[in-house]
Amino acid sequence: VEALIGTAILSYLIGSIPFGLILTRLGGAGDIRAIGSGNIGATNVLRTGRKGLAAATLVLDGLKGFAGPMLCAVAWPFFAPAVIALGAVCAVLGHCFPAWLRFRGGKGVATGLGAAFALDWRAGLICCLVWLLVARLSKISSAGALAAFLALPALLLLFAFGQTGAPNLWAGLLIAAIVFVRHRGNIARLLNGTEPRIGKKA
Ligand code: G3P
Repeated sequence: VEALIGTAILSYLIGSIPFGLILTRLGGAGDIRAIGSGNIGATNVLRTGRKGLAAATLVLDGLKGFAGPMLCAVAWPFFAPAVIALGAVCAVLGHCFPAWLRFRGGKGVATGLGAAFALDWRAGLICCLVWLLVARLSKISSAGALAAFLALPALLLLFAFGQTGAPNLWAGLLIAAIVFVRHRGNIARLLNGTEPRIGKKA
């Protein structure tokens, strides 16, 4: 129980660091929440025109999803599979609902991809490829994200027949559900054809 509570708290705290907000402030690009979609993620940081800041946001937000659960797995190795699964979900929750921003955080794509690597590196890798491919073809970031997180539970299920087990699958399903719920506005815009293309300044 101590391992699970510790994991939930630590992973949430790591996930809740709003790198997009911090980097755009430090980089003198203003408050990201007042730009474009208002989201704190890398896609919206790109709308400031600062590619370096967007790339750094993507990598650091991704690391949150990976490092949180992995650190906990090192701290509580005895419960590793459950700890990694719980840590992955809590890191994404931290990113999407950070206490410091009155629970108004991001959409969980970068952090969720990092978390997918922690759950099963093969699933994480394929999700990243799906995300890149669909985003590149459609030139719409959210379309890539939705495709990648549709694939995540399916991939985890596929690989579960190898060595990964039920906690992973539940974590993947929950993370996908969180990402989809956070993309409600994007999904509505995709359906009526008004979702903006990548890199368009707002
Ligand atoms: O990573 C979030 C992306 O899928 C959508 O972001 O800013 O276009 O709503 P945004």
